[in-house]
Amino acid sequence: MRMFFGAIAVASLALSTAASDAPEAVVKYRQSVMKAMAAHMTAASLIVKKQAGTRARLAAHADAIHALSDDLQSLFPASSGPEKVKTASLPAVWQRQQDFGTAAASLRNESAKLATLARHGDEHALAAQFDAVAAACSSCHKTFRARDSD
Ligand code: HEC
Repeated sequence: MRMFFGAIAVASLALSTAASDAPEAVVKYRQSVMKAMAAHMTAASLIVKKQAGTRARLAAHADAIHALSDDLQSLFPASSGPEKVKTASLPAVWQRQQDFGTAAASLRNESAKLATLARHGDEHALAAQFDAVAAACSSCHKTFRARDSD
């Protein structure tokens, strides 16, 4: 119990000092969000290709990607660039903020469509929209990420 309340105290302290989060933690957080989206993409692709999972679960994966893609730009504060900390984010993230915002908005839109189709779409439309989401991920990585491996 004491440890539990200790954890709450630490968590609220972290919230109140969010503006000065350590750059290493900021990078770790955004990489974790990215990895979570990647795991949902892998799971969704197994369902779309009918290799595993069930269609009934697809909306949950699409919803998660859509939710995590909200305000992606806020995960890249000015203090967390490659000149400050080890990161695969390229300087372009901060130099071309408008383009970066457009790339983030594209994922937001495409994942919303996937979430809708997951509930009502036919298989052909669904497969095409899955590809559109994957393209939104990789087109941002191409310009803004050092390693283009995903
Ligand atoms: C608006 C741009 C943008 C979009 C859209 C985007 N990413 Fe990323 N992603 C990045 C950047 C920049 C990095 C590098 C993060 C860092 O190291 O600071 C990254 C890193 C990653 C990583 C590596 C994480 C690690 O552990 O180092 C994975 C995996 C990833 N993204 C998956 C995805 C998937 C899947 C999607 C689509 C559902 C996606 N990303 C959409 C910009 C984007």
